[in-house]
Amino acid sequence: MNASTATACPNIAFIKYWGNRDAALRLPANGSLSMNLGGLWVRTRVQFDSALLGDSFMLNRRVHGGAALQRVSRFLDEIRRLAGIRAAAQVESANNFPMGVGVASSAAAFAALAVAGAAAAGLSLNEAQLSRLARLGSGSACRSVPGGFVEWQTGSGDPDSYAFSIAAPGHWAVVDCIAMLTQVHKEVGSTEGHALAPTSPLQAARLADTPRRLDLCRAAILQRDFAALAEVIEEDSTIMHAVMMTSRPPLFYWQPESLAVMQAVRGWRKAGLPCAFTLDAGPNVHVLCEATAAGQVQARLAELPGVQSVLVAPPGAAAMLMKE
Ligand code: DP6
Repeated sequence: MNASTATACPNIAFIKYWGNRDAALRLPANGSLSMNLGGLWVRTRVQFDSALLGDSFMLNRRVHGGAALQRVSRFLDEIRRLAGIRAAAQVESANNFPMGVGVASSAAAFAALAVAGAAAAGLSLNEAQLSRLARLGSGSACRSVPGGFVEWQTGSGDPDSYAFSIAAPGHWAVVDCIAMLTQVHKEVGSTEGHALAPTSPLQAARLADTPRRLDLCRAAILQRDFAALAEVIEEDSTIMHAVMMTSRPPLFYWQPESLAVMQAVRGWRKAGLPCAFTLDAGPNVHVLCEATAAGQVQARLAELPGVQSVLVAPPGAAAMLMKE
């Protein structure tokens, strides 16, 4: 069978996905909104071959077995089921950004794997079907399939829980300046974290208020209203971390340096620099700003204690198939 290669960007959630109503199908407890991160990519090549004895997975030229291979294999099972094939596959991935550091690497990885895997298996799926497929590998991956600014609707079940673009990458020149901090503690992965969300007494309040935050965030994006975007993304990030910190057992993803960056960003905004923070399941701080402020934000972030480097990403494109 033919090999297929696809690329996908990670994404940063403005309104976060935290908690599932069905963990096996990754049906989220709430809708979410994100921006793809341009310039950062995962590139994945898939080849099904009935002569292979089993699936294999290589990432940045290193062979991976164990849990990583198992997660890839389970995902390939879904593709095999849809295509009615039994052949094992060879999966080769490469990326240009650090993994496991609060830049959603699993989002880009499963978006690229869905697009390349479906094509390699001879399936012809539309964007919504590919997004839904990617969701089964990693929830946030469904948002890396469409381009630009993206909304994942919760849906009523598996068929309609997918993401779609609400604005193209060129709609708004906002930039994500990612302040990379020294990592001291090993984090609890997001899959485990989602399972703990319902143990926090704050999760119900967070969920009840999410439609309001989604509406505010969607409108801020569509109207290119940075002040409104800043307020709602900071509130949404903090309410998710409140749930994390009050789940049983509690999850503290922040480091003291993360809080120092958050406080600095709030001060800069008060003084007129259009920037705002959001954090995923890790200590690094994503600082969103208008492109005109990116140089200044990047320079100021680099001077803060504990900030090792700053990655800068504009709105990114949809996942896509590449010519072999
Ligand atoms: C905090 O999509 O990584 O980044 O479905 O278990 O792979 P799995 O979880 P994942 O969770 C993302 C959590 C988040 C918020 C977000 O991206 O919406």
